[in-house]
Amino acid sequence: MSATAHKGVPLPDDIRARKGGVPIVSLTAYTTPMAQLMDAHCDFVLVGDSVGMVLHGLESTLGVTLEMMILHGRAVKRGLSRAMMVVDMPFGSYEESREQAFRNAARIMAETGAGAVKLEGGVQMAPTIAFLTGRGIPVMAHVGLTPQSINTLGGYKVQGRGAAGEALLADARAVAEAGAFAVVLEKLPAALADRVTEAVDIPTIGIGASAGCDGQILVVDDMLGLFTAFKPKFVKRYASLGDQAEGAIATYAAEVRARAFPAPEHVFADTEPMK
Ligand code: KIV
Repeated sequence: MSATAHKGVPLPDDIRARKGGVPIVSLTAYTTPMAQLMDAHCDFVLVGDSVGMVLHGLESTLGVTLEMMILHGRAVKRGLSRAMMVVDMPFGSYEESREQAFRNAARIMAETGAGAVKLEGGVQMAPTIAFLTGRGIPVMAHVGLTPQSINTLGGYKVQGRGAAGEALLADARAVAEAGAFAVVLEKLPAALADRVTEAVDIPTIGIGASAGCDGQILVVDDMLGLFTAFKPKFVKRYASLGDQAEGAIATYAAEVRARAFPAPEHVFADTEPMK
């Protein structure tokens, strides 16, 4: 029997049950209108802490706060009626202790209506994942390139190459055993992503990983061409909305300067026309 919640929104157990099936589709979202656009197409929507970089102009995700995640989580939730929402736990909100993680994850769940939280880390975070899942908080894990740790990982490098692959495999196994219902695999060799997918009994969600993962995720502003500061190799641009928006703004500016906008159809007469 499906564990689908009321109103047809999938539960974490429904996502878990998709292991090895039709690939799971997900994107990030940070606003109500964008969530509305993807609701019919995605199985889950992630309110990623990438919001700090793509919407707030931060240089990394390290400056993102719990309040920002809750604010964006609430906005995204208003745009969803079908897809499950997962909200990222930001840097500094869960690493100190299992109790700190529970307190902040509980706030995210209660104040946003999320179906689950996501946190970064493998073996090191497994006890925290077990603590949260044992207390009613579904957790999506995230291993490989974990952007909150760029200062110890030495930047946004591919993870798990060569002998380091075994440690990454151990990370994925640890989070699965701790009770995570799915795990994001970010920026690792495709063959290693396939090995991890084979080794764990929960869905793997790839970003810069492999088409063999149980699902895929991309940052929506990357795939729509709205965030153009840089483009990771793993991003496919499905549209160039940033270019289109800039073109529209340039046309508007030119028309205002030429007094071509507003045109007669955009202004009001002194009296209403007769019907
Ligand atoms: O914050 C984010 O957008 C993410 C995805 C890249 C998985 O964690």
